Amino acid sequence: MKLWGGRFTVSTDKAVDDFHSSIHFDSRMYRQDIAGSIAHAEMLGRCGVIPVSEAELICSTLREILSDIESGKVHFEVEAEDIHMNVEKILIDRIGDVGKKLHTGRSRNDQVALDLRMYLRDEIREIKGMLLELLAVLLEISEKNMDTIMPGYTHLQRAQPVTLAHHTMAYFQMFRRDVGRLDDCYARMDVMPLGSGALAGTTYPLDRNFVAEKLGFSDITQNSLDGVSDRDFVIELASCLSVIMMHLSRYCEELILWSSAEFSFIEMDDAYSTGSSIMPQKKNPDVAELIRGKTGRVYGSLISLLTMMKSLPLAYNKDMQEDKEAIFDAVDTVKACLPVFTKMLSTMKIKRENMYRAACGGFTNATDVADYLVKKGIPFRSAHEIVGRMVLYCIDNDKALDELTIDEFKGFSPKIEEDVYEAISLEKCVSDRKLPGGPAPDSVRAAMENGRKFLKAIR
Ligand code: ARG
Repeated sequence: MKLWGGRFTVSTDKAVDDFHSSIHFDSRMYRQDIAGSIAHAEMLGRCGVIPVSEAELICSTLREILSDIESGKVHFEVEAEDIHMNVEKILIDRIGDVGKKLHTGRSRNDQVALDLRMYLRDEIREIKGMLLELLAVLLEISEKNMDTIMPGYTHLQRAQPVTLAHHTMAYFQMFRRDVGRLDDCYARMDVMPLGSGALAGTTYPLDRNFVAEKLGFSDITQNSLDGVSDRDFVIELASCLSVIMMHLSRYCEELILWSSAEFSFIEMDDAYSTGSSIMPQKKNPDVAELIRGKTGRVYGSLISLLTMMKSLPLAYNKDMQEDKEAIFDAVDTVKACLPVFTKMLSTMKIKRENMYRAACGGFTNATDVADYLVKKGIPFRSAHEIVGRMVLYCIDNDKALDELTIDEFKGFSPKIEEDVYEAISLEKCVSDRKLPGGPAPDSVRAAMENGRKFLKAIR
């Protein structure tokens, strides 16, 4: 018989049991479900809703059930629908009528809202740890590549020289914001919904704050209808995870390009590459591609969740059971991607000479020639035009700007002197961009120091 079977005369069709049961995916919240029930039962005892001795029996039995689940001794049933009723049913099987008192003043609606918040809080902590590992590796790579000059791109066309440290620290900033977004998301998720009941609270004198404190929440929800029907926190997390994946995917895209013979800026370690079943020469950046590909499924979860919620009247509706598979998959995907990405990054070989050679081509110092003319008194727009003509000339004569003779230079502007060569060397182009946030080694060092402090404070 179902725990809610009293009002029914016919048992559920087997097909319906299979269809609406969520135990095959929500069983992963067993730890949170049991912790929530223990806090609820203890509170029921303290508030005099049930005798303290019975509350104690419930709590100790729940602890036994927990250890039995962990040692694989418990079999969950599809007929008991979800993790909440499976645990409750096992409890009742073990201690009879006393077990039947656990659900006093509680509904599965506030119970699932509690469990999911607790489960996702734990996952956020783990994902944040993984992001911090990645940030540490980004700092290491930057440390070693302060002077590794490479072309910076816009429109994927060589634009101006930067350093690999500067490029790497750009990703540091992105993943650092991701950590901040997870913190914000955590803070809004961190409110305790028990006491909302099914939708309208309860007449029992429950101590909601006691339960909140016991379960490590910083506050309680402020409206019972909202407490059971809010899934903002799930959507917000899916959105944070989508941004993390977007960042990973952009990085992967660059690493895939950089691994190609056409760029040849890096070589992935053999341990993070795969071969082809037909082409013996192939070494493919599959790991990076797979992360880029998995980004789509995390976005998919976000869209599923937003769409699932968009027309639901208050308060709980069964549609909301669909929240779990979507967010679990998004969480699992990010947790699968982050550590492997970090390792792939920390083991890749950087081909500094190729990066430097690429920065030498493509006239990446053209802006600096224009800036040189500006320093000699020519207005920027005119300087831009002069250098544009120089570039055309260089293309026709198959030369780089710094390969022009002084006479060729003077043909474009009599203001140009011998000091032009020093002014437009790649090293100078980089080291002169020394505003805060710029690619000059001093500026990057300052950004890294700031990053190191952030990591130290948070870890
Ligand atoms: N398994 C359900 C879910 O995940 C739990 C809440 C069910 N509540 C209900 N009234 N049917 O949403």
